[in-house]
Amino acid sequence: MSDAPILGPVNHVADLSAASDFEKKHTPHLTVEASDDKMVVTVTVGHEVSHPNQPDHYIGWIELYANDAGIARFDLSPVATDPVVSIVVAVDAGTVLRAVAHCNLHGLWAAELTV
Ligand SMILES: [Fe+2]
Repeated sequence: MSDAPILGPVNHVADLSAASDFEKKHTPHLTVEASDDKMVVTVTVGHEVSHPNQPDHYIGWIELYANDAGIARFDLSPVATDPVVSIVVAVDAGTVLRAVAHCNLHGLWAAELTV
């Protein structure tokens, strides 16, 4: 049995400033705002270049990890949502937040932010 991910390889763009529009519209963008002793994490797919949101081409889900632990998953409808999600989290300083998004045509895309 192969060790390859079932959904295919995870695309990761090292330098978004040098990325193509195709890469920019798929790579998750993470922001964090302080909220009392917690933080609000917002993940946007298509931050600089909008990703299509149509029945035949859409972001179907976004997952959020804290270090290697999955902490949230959002399943998205292609016609009634935009691929932008926010959640309140309580994690230690230095935690690596990782967002993974799935495009139904172009697979998995990931980005990280250390808080
Ligand atoms: Fe796509």
